[in-house]
Amino acid sequence: MPERMISDVLAKPDAALEMTLRPSLFSEFTGQSKVKERLEITVAAARKRGEAIDHILLNGPPGRGTTTLANIIAKAMGANLKSTSGPTIEKAGDLAGLLTNLEEGDVLFIDEIHRLQKTIEEYLYPAMEDFKLDIIIDQGPNARSVRLNLPRFTLIGATTRSGLLTAPLLTRFPIRERLDYYQAPELQQIVLRSARLLGVEIEPNGAMEIARRSRGTPRIANNLLRRVRDYAEVRHEGRVTVAVADQALAMLEIDENGLDEMDKRILESIIVKFGGGPVGLGSLAVAVGEEPDTLEEVYEPYLIMEGYLKRTPQGRVATELSYRKLGVKFRPGSQPALL
Ligand SMILES: Nc1ncnc2c1ncn2[C@@H]1O[C@H](COP(=O)(O)OP(=O)(O)O)[C@@H](O)[C@H]1O
Ligand SMILES: [Mg+2]
Repeated sequence: MPERMISDVLAKPDAALEMTLRPSLFSEFTGQSKVKERLEITVAAARKRGEAIDHILLNGPPGRGTTTLANIIAKAMGANLKSTSGPTIEKAGDLAGLLTNLEEGDVLFIDEIHRLQKTIEEYLYPAMEDFKLDIIIDQGPNARSVRLNLPRFTLIGATTRSGLLTAPLLTRFPIRERLDYYQAPELQQIVLRSARLLGVEIEPNGAMEIARRSRGTPRIANNLLRRVRDYAEVRHEGRVTVAVADQALAMLEIDENGLDEMDKRILESIIVKFGGGPVGLGSLAVAVGEEPDTLEEVYEPYLIMEGYLKRTPQGRVATELSYRKLGVKFRPGSQPALL
């Protein structure tokens, strides 16, 4: 395995640090301007009418701000936020416990909602739609279904894979928003803000260098900032200039386009082992020694967006840009694909 991979920089920092850097107001949430505008209007309108907001589904790859937004929305509503996640709700009783403990206007945040079990999902439908919960009490001949009334709550679901959500669940979210890649200038603002909060001395160009190499992802930008700060403190006087940022990122083996060792290994496998592709996700995952899910959720979106990779019905194909990146002459399909 390569020593340093994007999964490391995607790792969540400790809870206290995450709290320090996490914006708590819409005004501090940088980028995603259209999503933000729509959500702010929804919140303002609901407040004006004194109602709870409609259920919201937030979709985006890891580290793009779904949890942050859920917190911001709840706070803007002046509502309590109760957090849970799809895989931790194991039994229908767990869900019933969560729902019956909600108060009027509360926000229930379910992270990784695509990982909710189907049987549990079905309890959620009437809860979301009619604010009712049908539970079975007693067993055997005495078993009977009891209908409980729930307070008007708001469900905010977050997912990295909205494609895995069932249609009935998807359609029960009147509001669905997708968090897009962040542009470098937006990430630069985020890095500058985080640097201020962490007391790091940084030049705007230094922040831009980190931003450009953060794969459009705020969590990566924040994590790289901390690594660059360490480097700046040990090797320099602590000030992050563009040169210091560049050296630190090179040491972390993150190249000038933000690609790391694993990205290069993926491109190299497709080109060298699979003749440029097409290659199926499963075969590629085995070749690079990574989980198919991780490849698909974490690595591929960036490689595709940056034009290194194409997803075709036959499988993944390396583009000319990948050949150039690896310094290999572009000869697509010159070797038989080892499918
Ligand atoms: N739009 C944003 N503006 C500023 N910081 C952000 C933004 N989105 C995310 N962050 C930062 O990135 C970190 C990760 O965001 P988070 O909401 O936990 O991502 P997700 O839940 O989508 O994986 C947050 O702690 C926050 O510091
Ligand atoms: Mg999250």
